[in-house]
Amino acid sequence: MRDVAVIGIGMNKWGELWDKSLRDIFTEAALKAIDDGGVDHIDSMYIGNMSSGLFVGQEHLASLLSDYLGQGPIPATRIESACCSGGAAFRSAFIDVASGMNDIVLAGGVEKMNDIGGDGATFALATAADQEYEVYHGVTFPGLYAMMARAHMERYGTTRKQLAEVAVKNHENGSKNPLAQFPFKTTVEGVINSPMVADPLTLMDCSPITDGAAAVILCPADMVKDYKNHPAVKIIGSGHATDTIALSTRDDLTYLKATEIAGQKALKMAGKRLSDIDLCEVHDCFTIAEIIVLESLGFFERGKAAAATEAGETRIGGKIPINTSGGLKSKGHPVGATGIAQIYEIVNQLRGGAGERQVKGAKVGMAQNMGGSGGSTLVHILEVM
Ligand code: COA
Repeated sequence: MRDVAVIGIGMNKWGELWDKSLRDIFTEAALKAIDDGGVDHIDSMYIGNMSSGLFVGQEHLASLLSDYLGQGPIPATRIESACCSGGAAFRSAFIDVASGMNDIVLAGGVEKMNDIGGDGATFALATAADQEYEVYHGVTFPGLYAMMARAHMERYGTTRKQLAEVAVKNHENGSKNPLAQFPFKTTVEGVINSPMVADPLTLMDCSPITDGAAAVILCPADMVKDYKNHPAVKIIGSGHATDTIALSTRDDLTYLKATEIAGQKALKMAGKRLSDIDLCEVHDCFTIAEIIVLESLGFFERGKAAAATEAGETRIGGKIPINTSGGLKSKGHPVGATGIAQIYEIVNQLRGGAGERQVKGAKVGMAQNMGGSGGSTLVHILEVM
């Protein structure tokens, strides 16, 4: 296997992008990454996308987007793994370069979710849950995560306030991210008093419906000197694992097995320990998800991440800064793009380019991206070269 580096990153402002089509959004982010990497062509590309067929009525994305980017006839592949389609696209691009098959590879992600309205988006998202055992009975993702929150509260005494603290911290970070969908600050009261979605989760515990894209350029580590002169960042670990989709068949609702396994695989490959990680982007699709992911990755013992969050240990300047980008909560969650945007944030931080939200001296970063209620997970570890 060859060593692989990320040499270019691109992302657009996320939100409700009514004046742009899916192909515009993707191409904008891809061209930014190409420009940032200083490359004059790409050899192949992978596109994370969960459900363009349901969201905008367009399938066959890989060919459409490579053509619109002016890169046809390169090999292009769409990757789907629900909300971790982006992370899975990144891993495919990594394997493509590491194997020696291709040199300059683009990993992108895109989703345009607002065109079909809230009900349509909820339906499209719910196709990533178990249709027969969950969705037919009326449960949607906020409902599934609400059950996980209740179980965690009952077992560990996690409080409503502690859940709200996740949103407060992520909006604080997102307020320093000019690309975030909701870059406003909030308070514990603001979160708890926002409209109820699925008890105990209110609107401010939920990630939003978002239009957006992100892209990164990978190449063999020994080629970075041929391209632009910002610090290159090496991919040192990649872990991928799956779990049952339906919550009813899980042993434990307060823990995510695929996240634990993917995290351990990535650490083993990287030859690192959790104490070596300077910052981590995690999949906070709901506030409770961030708490359970932090415990499943092992940053905190089971039942301790909520209190650690309340104590400020996951803020910038804390023990382990989590979701410096604002996370899915504040930055937005265009599902297929989220995993690539996490890599964007980690690379930006490791280059020292994150401005007001910079983690001082960051050398090693981790990104955890998961599908559905944790039925699939990708974890990547990157280190500045
Ligand atoms: N965080 C902060 N503000 C939000 C928000 C969020 N998640 N979602 C919407 N808003 C804001 C809107 O900007 C709007 O503000 P305005 O009145 O000032 O214009 C207001 O709240 C109402 O927005 P609306 O679009 O009508 O909300 P909604 O009730 O239709 O949808 C949710 C809110 C939380 C139900 C929806 O965002 C959702 O389903 N989120 C979960 C997505 C999901 O499941 N993703 C997959 C995870 S596995």
